[in-house]
Amino acid sequence: LRDGQTPIPAAASPATAPPAAALDLSVVVPCYNEAANVAPLVAALDTALAGLAWEVIFVDDNSPDGTAAAARALAQHDPRVRCIRRIGRRGLASAVIEGALASSAAAIAVMDGDLQHDETILPAMLDAVRSGRADLAVGSRFAAGADAGGLSSPWRHRLSESGIRLAQSFLPVRLSDPLSGYFLLSRALFERLAPSLTGQGFKILLDLVLTAGPGLRVAEVPFRFRAREAGESKLDVLVLVQFAGLILDRLVLRRFLGGVVPLRFIAFALVGALGVLVHLAVLEAGFAGLHLHFELAQSLATVAAMAFNFALNNQVTYRDQRLRGPRVWSGLLLFMLVCGIGAIANVGIAQALYAQHTPGLAAGATGAVIGVVWNYAVSATLVWRA
Ligand code: GDD
Ligand code: MN
Repeated sequence: LRDGQTPIPAAASPATAPPAAALDLSVVVPCYNEAANVAPLVAALDTALAGLAWEVIFVDDNSPDGTAAAARALAQHDPRVRCIRRIGRRGLASAVIEGALASSAAAIAVMDGDLQHDETILPAMLDAVRSGRADLAVGSRFAAGADAGGLSSPWRHRLSESGIRLAQSFLPVRLSDPLSGYFLLSRALFERLAPSLTGQGFKILLDLVLTAGPGLRVAEVPFRFRAREAGESKLDVLVLVQFAGLILDRLVLRRFLGGVVPLRFIAFALVGALGVLVHLAVLEAGFAGLHLHFELAQSLATVAAMAFNFALNNQVTYRDQRLRGPRVWSGLLLFMLVCGIGAIANVGIAQALYAQHTPGLAAGATGAVIGVVWNYAVSATLVWRA
């Protein structure tokens, strides 16, 4: 010590500090526009989990209704409440993964933030996993003793039933409610599976079970699915398209192509193929129908096809990273620029190959494939950057 410096006081010895209580359970709650449900859910957990050391992690995708603020307001006085706020809507599955990875408890439960999942079965779910009886506990709306009453409409009922039957046909283990958003597993198991999860769409449980494979031991706990009181469901028809995509990805792409061709690329190429049809239709209408100059009709057709492709990719291929509001227009412009360069490359490469005596069809196909790969790779990083 030099003159005038005061010695730094020794830290309290670890032996005298009380040990931090290890958490029994982290409840991960993905939420989008659930501000009114946050406080009632925490109160319900407080009752249901009495006697356990728990935390709740709300993962909010920057909801406009102030869901994150509602969670933070509680967190000020209750250290069991945590909030992860992500900018931009990035989707249910990836919210669950992010929340689960941010937790430190020995077990992780995932439940909806709209009070539709009955929190009183959480201790039974935790017990099934902690006792070693099961690796995964699933809250089921369809097991014996359960009640799916809260499915809002007959339409939702039928949709659920067909989705369930479809999912059951290829699942490695039997589940009465494979689309449930309510489940619990040890953090160790989650972390082992996490690197292989797709993080896309709604069906995180399905993804977990498919990743785990046939050895997984599952305990189903029946519950009564409540009706939603506040806010509205975010599940829509396009979610089904993503569901089909997950199945395609798991059962075909990963199994037979070793995962080298991403699902998004398949979707992007299919959208591109539809775009060709749009192009031809507009060209036909302009040239033959309206007697426009060929160049004009061709230019209009190109712009129409690009706009169509952009819109469909934004709705389906990149649904989880969808551009909204003014960003749609800058995205469209950028997309057209990228695809314009792709088209020039396509034609240039095909011409160069043809000049070197490659057969015309092969030259054309090579140019087209390189064009699509370019469009995909560049628009994925520039237009829909994650
Ligand atoms: N962070 C985040 N981001 N949360 C989201 C998003 C999103 O993009 N979309 C939905 N959520 C949250 C909702 O706020 C809610 O807490 C939960 O995810 C479930 O969404 P709902 O909109 O309430 O879904 P649902 O009730 O129609 O669907 C339920 O049943 C499906 C099967 O029929 C859910 O349990 C689904 O997980 C389940 O697959
Ligand atoms: Mn719901």
